[in-house]
Amino acid sequence: MKIAFVGKGGSGKTTLSSLFIRHLAAAGTPVVAIDADINQHLGTALGLDEQEAAALPAMGDRLPLIKDYLRGTNPRIASAGTMIKTTPPGEGSRLLQVRENNPVYDACARPVELDGGAVRLMVTGPFTDADLGVACYHSKTGAVELCLNHLMDGPDEYVVVDMTAGSDSFASGMFTRFDITFLVAEPTRRGVSVYRQYKEYARDYGVTLKVVGNKVHGQDDLDFLRTEVGDDLLVTVGHSDWVRAMEKGRPPRFELLEDHNRTALRRLRTAADATYGLRDWERYTRQMVHFHLKNAQSWGNERTGADLAAQVDPGFVLGEGVVTPA
Ligand SMILES: Nc1ncnc2c1ncn2[C@@H]1O[C@H](COP(=O)(O)OP(=O)(O)OP(=O)(O)O)[C@@H](O)[C@H]1O
Ligand SMILES: [Mg+2]
Repeated sequence: MKIAFVGKGGSGKTTLSSLFIRHLAAAGTPVVAIDADINQHLGTALGLDEQEAAALPAMGDRLPLIKDYLRGTNPRIASAGTMIKTTPPGEGSRLLQVRENNPVYDACARPVELDGGAVRLMVTGPFTDADLGVACYHSKTGAVELCLNHLMDGPDEYVVVDMTAGSDSFASGMFTRFDITFLVAEPTRRGVSVYRQYKEYARDYGVTLKVVGNKVHGQDDLDFLRTEVGDDLLVTVGHSDWVRAMEKGRPPRFELLEDHNRTALRRLRTAADATYGLRDWERYTRQMVHFHLKNAQSWGNERTGADLAAQVDPGFVLGEGVVTPA
């Protein structure tokens, strides 16, 4: 299952994604955690100290390796140099799985021990101004998008992405890559305006979007969110002393997380799992082709000097069970 946490800066994306990742790990579930947020804090939210977090390999620095591996023997992709963030897989491409070892994980993922088991953590690396542009060839989130577009994931295994709701993710199609998107919103006008904008973008793409209210104190906050987002409000989280203790560098055992927050995490998982039945690999593949053609035309062809539309393998549908070359 592919799950994104998005929202306004400071809303609690990193906090809630890290709690959700801990919740999955505590149940012994395989997780790949990806930090694609502008402010790279997922590692520390998962308990790494600053030094360990700074030593994590950046996916953005390893794009050539990622592209070369995923390209495999796909004859439609002449070189890693002509592969852009939206280049879709086709016959001969290598696909990724959550539970396997592969050169992409070797280069970009590091294990993080949590109560209950280890997860794999991958980080895009710190963003520069150029990364926030729409047409970015070396885009950091592009590394994530390529991985998602080459991922065959089944139920009971999770990729959780902490992500910025920026123009980059809308132009590239990244926002359509998830089974469910949790939009973290504080009960404020700005918090819900990001929700409205996201909803508007997502409208025509069958994106499952649910709001997770954060820092919700009392009835007035709850009423505000209910009025503003209606049925899209999935659950709310209040101030957490557990989170505060963790921020002080004194993380309690995860089982000591407050009951109401644990209940909220269970509801997130239930909502995510319920989307499995809505999976449509054909639509998923069609959408990546759609965004690839759009990006090819608007900047990719010019940038690479190739006709990137020719990279599309018309007969290919990504899905569980697609055979990938060794
Ligand atoms: N439910 C909560 N209880 C206590 N503290 C919280 C809670 N949610 C968020 N915080 C605190 O609020 C601050 C911002 O949260 P966080 O870093 O998760 O937000 P973010 O959306 O990822 O921000 P950024 O845009 O900077 O990446 C952090 O100090 C975090 O510990
Ligand atoms: Mg963050």
